[in-house]
Amino acid sequence: MTDECLAELHRMAALGRLLAGVVHEVSTPAASILSNNQVLINSLEKLDAAFGESPDAPGVARAKKIVGAIKPLAAIDRIACERIAAIVRSMKTVARAGDPELCKVDLNENIESALKLTQAEFRGRIEVETEFGVLPAVDCHPHLINQVFLNLLMNASQAIDGRGKIRVSTRFDGEGVVISIADTGHGINDEDKAKVLNRGFTTKPAGVGTGIGLSIVKQIVTEGHGGTIGFESEVGKGTTFHIRIPVEQKRKGA
Ligand SMILES: Nc1ncnc2c1ncn2[C@@H]1O[C@H](COP(=O)(O)OP(=O)(O)O)[C@@H](O)[C@H]1O
Ligand SMILES: [Mg+2]
Repeated sequence: MTDECLAELHRMAALGRLLAGVVHEVSTPAASILSNNQVLINSLEKLDAAFGESPDAPGVARAKKIVGAIKPLAAIDRIACERIAAIVRSMKTVARAGDPELCKVDLNENIESALKLTQAEFRGRIEVETEFGVLPAVDCHPHLINQVFLNLLMNASQAIDGRGKIRVSTRFDGEGVVISIADTGHGINDEDKAKVLNRGFTTKPAGVGTGIGLSIVKQIVTEGHGGTIGFESEVGKGTTFHIRIPVEQKRKGA
């Protein structure tokens, strides 16, 4: 792994630790509010029941009205608190993504989540087809691998003018997992084929393209994971990128 790649991993790890701290700081009081809220809701129910036992006692009609006004507020607090808990749970996942350790990952799941993220960009314009093979768990840095999928999917989408199709398939070849992302976009001409993986090469207008995406993809795949990247393309027909990630990574000192 290059120094640049390592530095990125360390940065992500530091961010992950920071986020884990925030998650802890937020989740403890949120859990306490949630449990107090449950006590409050139960108590309001008990009060209501008690009012039912002596409905004509002095002040009961007024107290009943007050409880009636508080109940929906307590219910809304509960929903709000559950939302905070759900956000905190998803932040936990992101915090873990910064882990510099290799994780065993089902890449089909990472592709599924990358496709969910690109849904808004594709909606109504691009039809997505998937063919997932049965894959063994792969040693990888999931947040880096997710960047690979997102970059390739965004490129595929940007290559398609108007409507088109993106097909994602995965398979296990005995030692590695091969992911192919095919699009029905404008393709890459022969002259550009030699340059597309270079840092800074873009055919997109300023503000759209930076020409950095594929160089990062290549670095993550080859230097970060000992994998390979290749593509085939025909102008007017489309492009297919193939990524291969070995199932086992060499660990430090191994
Ligand atoms: N799926 C694709 N179809 C056609 N051309 C592509 C595709 N992916 C990448 N390219 C070409 O490679 C160039 C470099 O891609 P990339 O490094 O991601 O930078 P950017 O997307 O910012 O231009 C693109 O500008 C485009 O010309
Ligand atoms: Mg790009």
